[in-house]
Amino acid sequence: MAPPFKPNRVVVIGTGAVGTTTAYTLLLRRRMPELVLIDVNHQKALGEALDMNHGMPFVGGVKLWAGTYEDCREADIIIVTAGASQKPGETRIDLLRKNISIFKDIIQKITKYNQHAILLIATNPVDILSYATLKISGFDRRRVIGSGTVLDSARFRYLIGLHKEIDPRSIHGQIIGEHGDSELPVWSLANVAGIDLGFDEAERNEIFEDTKNAAYEIIDAKGSTSYAIALALDRIVDAILHNEGAVLNVSTLLNNYNGVSDVFLGAPCVVDRSGVREVLDLPLNDEERALFQQSASKLKEQIAKLEL
Ligand code: 2OP
Repeated sequence: MAPPFKPNRVVVIGTGAVGTTTAYTLLLRRRMPELVLIDVNHQKALGEALDMNHGMPFVGGVKLWAGTYEDCREADIIIVTAGASQKPGETRIDLLRKNISIFKDIIQKITKYNQHAILLIATNPVDILSYATLKISGFDRRRVIGSGTVLDSARFRYLIGLHKEIDPRSIHGQIIGEHGDSELPVWSLANVAGIDLGFDEAERNEIFEDTKNAAYEIIDAKGSTSYAIALALDRIVDAILHNEGAVLNVSTLLNNYNGVSDVFLGAPCVVDRSGVREVLDLPLNDEERALFQQSASKLKEQIAKLEL
């Protein structure tokens, strides 16, 4: 007898700018038959769900509602976007104290109902909160994923594409390390069609600085970022639900990886229905390796202060 049909369900926790834009993106792309919005302010989640549901005659195929943690029971992927976001001048690390306590509560509520889902973390500082999620949930390391440097790598490829007048989808380039100020570009492996990009030092610096500071620039201009992170999360969800084996620079628990251990950082991961199936071993040059290790040390200092 065929097993009972269970539709894929994605839960989005937090209906701020990132949560709602992510839900809307998932809806427009009809990534899953069931989509649940949860927020500590249930009225807000209700309003967002109602607004999106009124678009259903134009989209269709998605059952969407404002729910409670009990709805996590049937979830395949739970995306956590809840928490304070950066204000102008704040770094992502500055958010740690505010967001860690919210997080302990959220992860405990999720795991009360669900032990099998993939937890996809987007709240900042994302690498540290993903590490905390792993410890609090006790989940298999493959099923705790941070959005990591997927977005930073997209910004990097977009900017390289602008310089080269080439579609960013044809640019191979990646940012690794912290999703934040200590991240680094892997210039030694960046290419288009296998050909070196041929940038001089000044061009490289300009592209990387613009990549790293993109969120600050957007937050100064409009208060928060939402569209590109939503597309990045949608990309990760797609890779999981379609068991793609796509290579994405999500944040994952690294051990004995380019000299770092017991820390979450963005690195090229093979993402499929199991979550992070494997981390690809990047042949970094000496300078990149040193910067990567510095990024790890910075985050580990913060992690050491947490009571997990
Ligand atoms: C971003 O990079 C703020 O982390 C968020 O857009």
